[in-house]
Order: sequence, then C-alpha cells, then structure tokens
Amino acid sequence: MHPVLSRVSHRLTPAKTRLLLSTNTIGRFYTTPAKKYGAYILPHIPHKHSTINNHAATTLRPFASASDPTKDIQGSQNTTIYFTIVDRVGALEEVLGRLAELDVSLTSIESRPGRHAGLYDFYIDFLASEDKQVAHAVTKLAKHVKEIRVVSTGGGSTPGDLVEQRQSAWFPRRKQDLDLFAERVLSYGAELDSDHPGFTDDTYRARRAAITKLAREYRTGMPLARIVYTAEEIATWGQVYQKLEELHFDKACREYQYIKPLLVANCGYGPDNIPQLEDISRFLKECTGFTLRPVMGLLSSRDFLNALAFRVFFSTQYIRHSSNPFYTPEPDVCHELLGHVPLFADPDFADFSQEIGLASLGASEEDIKKLATIYWFTVEFGLCKQGNGVKAFGAGLLSSFGELDYCLSDKPQRVRFDPEKAAVQDYPITEYQPIYFVADSFKVMKEQVRSYANRLSRPFSLRYNAYTETIEVLDEKERLIRMANNIRGDLSRLAEAIEYI
Ligand SMILES: [Fe+2]
Repeated sequence: MHPVLSRVSHRLTPAKTRLLLSTNTIGRFYTTPAKKYGAYILPHIPHKHSTINNHAATTLRPFASASDPTKDIQGSQNTTIYFTIVDRVGALEEVLGRLAELDVSLTSIESRPGRHAGLYDFYIDFLASEDKQVAHAVTKLAKHVKEIRVVSTGGGSTPGDLVEQRQSAWFPRRKQDLDLFAERVLSYGAELDSDHPGFTDDTYRARRAAITKLAREYRTGMPLARIVYTAEEIATWGQVYQKLEELHFDKACREYQYIKPLLVANCGYGPDNIPQLEDISRFLKECTGFTLRPVMGLLSSRDFLNALAFRVFFSTQYIRHSSNPFYTPEPDVCHELLGHVPLFADPDFADFSQEIGLASLGASEEDIKKLATIYWFTVEFGLCKQGNGVKAFGAGLLSSFGELDYCLSDKPQRVRFDPEKAAVQDYPITEYQPIYFVADSFKVMKEQVRSYANRLSRPFSLRYNAYTETIEVLDEKERLIRMANNIRGDLSRLAEAIEYI
C-alpha cells in the first residue's frame, strides 16, 4: 500500500476489488442510490403529409405501460425492435394499440421513411424483464406489420431462441439513450468505504450527495450544472494542480503539453480555480466534437465504452477529501480534468477513443472485456513513443504522483502496443502496473484498434452520424448508397483542395 497516491482504484477493499474484477468496470463511482426509473416516450414522427402522421398526431401520447413505472432499471433489459408498416389509414393506431397492451416500459419510438414508397420504418425501445416478454412483443406486433426484427436486446447475455441471427446485445442508437445509463448503478459512493478519507466527515458526504444529485438529474441537451466550489475544495485542487504540473513538464506527452495552455486560456484551468464541466465540454466540442456529461459514479464497462461511440465522456464532478490532497481511492475532478480531459481535444486521440466506443456497441461480453482492457492499457495507463523517448498519455498516470515516475523508470516492463496482446493482458488494479504498452502514435494506435475491432464478431457494421448524433446500422441498401455518395462528395472536395495546395 502506497502512502501517497492519487490514482484510480488504489486501496480498494477486497469487496470492491472483487466487484471491479468481476464486472471489469473502468472506474466510475456513484455516490447516491439509484433513482427508480420510469417509462417515458419520445415520439418522433417526421412525415407531415402521410396518412400515418395525420393519425399519429392524435395517437402518440405517453404510453400507459402495464409495467410498474418504478421498476428498477437494473432488473430489466433494454430492447430495440425494428418494424415496417404500410402507409394506410389506421395502420399506426393498430400497432400503437398493440404496443400499449404489452407488459413492457416503452422508452422511445422513432419513425422514418421506409426503404420503399408507401412504407414506414419504426424503431421502438423498451425495457423488458425477461426474454419471453421480448418474444411476446414480437409475436404480438408481427400480425400487424410488414416486417419485424429484434435489433438488440439484453445487456450482453446469451440471446434466446427468439433472436434472429442479426441480434446483438442492446446498444444506444441516439445520444439521448445515454440518459438511461445515468441511473445504472454498480456501487454507491455515498456509502464510502471505511478507509475513505471522507468516511467520517458528514459535511463531505453531504456535499458529494448534493453534487451527484445534479448528475443524476442531468439529461442530454441540458447545460451542465455549475458547481460553486468552496475555498477548501479549491485549495485541494490547487495543491494537486501545482504538484502535477511539475511532474508533467518532462513526463507528459507532447499533445498533453500543447493542449494544457489552451485549457488555461479557454476553460479557466489554473491552481486557483476548478474549471466547470460546461466550459470544458463546450471547448472540447469545438475541438473534436467530444462532450462531457456528469456521472454519479461507477458505470459498467459496456455503458461507459458505449458513450465514447457518441464522443461523450462521463465525468465525476466532486473532489477528493481535503485531508489528503495527494490520495484518492476513486476518480474525482482532479483525475478527470487533469488526467483525461486534455487529450480529448486532440483529434487523433478523440478518434481513437471513439473507435473503442464504436467497437463496444452490441459487442459480446467477452469482447467488452477485451475492449475495456485495451482502454485500461491506453486511455488510463498508456505510454507512447515521442522522439527517442517514451512519454505518458494515460489519465491514470497523468493524475498520479507516484506512478508517473515509476512507469518511465527501469522497474516495469514496457512493450510495443498491440491490441491483440493488450486485450488479454492481466493487470492489477490496486498497485502499479508491472507492464505498460507503448504506442507508436495516437494515429497508429487508432488504426490498430480499428483493425482489431473489424475482426471482432458482430453481425453488422455501423457508423456514427455526427449530424444527427445517432448510430446508423449499415444494413440497408439506401443507407449505404447515401453513405457512398457522401464519401464521393468528400473525395471530390479533397481532390479540389489538393489542387490548390
Ligand atoms: Fe479514468
């Protein structure tokens, strides 16, 4: 056990260590109990002149789900079903009527023009407590639609018999779907471990509860809450900030060193001010499209990685206990803002992070574990070649007072980054790493992970549509043609631009 540490997951209790290992979580801790989740619906009917829409306008209202709306989300499985209906008077009411009868909690419904004239495609998302509810929904709807299939269901469990070959674990397709994750709790930071520096400090615990309450209430599109940090909190931040700045001088990668002054100039970084997530998020959005959203605590690897596909990073907003500024047993604003944030402003690093996220969508549990391990050895504890030397870019290193020295010393083993090897490499979470992976560059690392992801078994291809902030499953000819035309347009502009150079 190290007396002075500021890195993620150190000094975990055996119980928490088991939790982290068994779920292969990445390191987010919730501090308040999960709020019960209620059903809601987000109607989106864009067809102004169709007969379907005319009727939908009066029919699409909040569903009265037969399920208990306070049902704990952890006990249910997200499911997305796709179906096609023919545009005729009464068609939509028919389907909606059947949906309302189902014993499930609908979370969203989305429509768009179908692949052929006169058809409309629908995606519905709902929460079901077991596979047979999904099967029941499919059977019930199948009689009223032209085509139906389960796109994804569950959280990575083995698909049941009802699942056709295209099905995979449920994944978010819209940025708003990430709101579902906010309620999913793996552990509660409010119930601090007895060795947590704030364990006996009621004021500290109340403060954390107030900040995490804001995270729990956050929904996509809302401004991120501004925290008025206390003088005590700012003093803690200041000590960490100054100490790390000294260490970063010759150990942090050049990209980090380049971006940090920009954060000082644009986001209020400095020893006397804890920057606000809202300001940072706006800055990152302009740089690379990445955004931050607050989180209560520990997310599963799947949920956390899925968010990266949307260029969204879940960040804590509370700070470690003031009694020991150089130690925290969990991520806090120091770790997030001084460790993670700067590199999300780097285009290659942002692309790399999103590649891991995209690979995690609908992935099997086995592949999620591998991707989370790659994340561990790169985003958290990665090293990279720079000139003739090696520098640190992992947030777990850049926010650690001891391991930053250690990782570049002659004590640990350093090997060239290879996603195949990194994905299956064992690692300790309560002590310094015995082995680090050294990337050639962010650009090379991104290509390596993209190639690795292509080899994972997943029965579909997908892409992120930055205009609509949605994930597109590339399973329709029209969509592929549209994508090809976009690429052709980009190539044309590229050729033209090259001529001017
Ligand atoms: Fe982290």
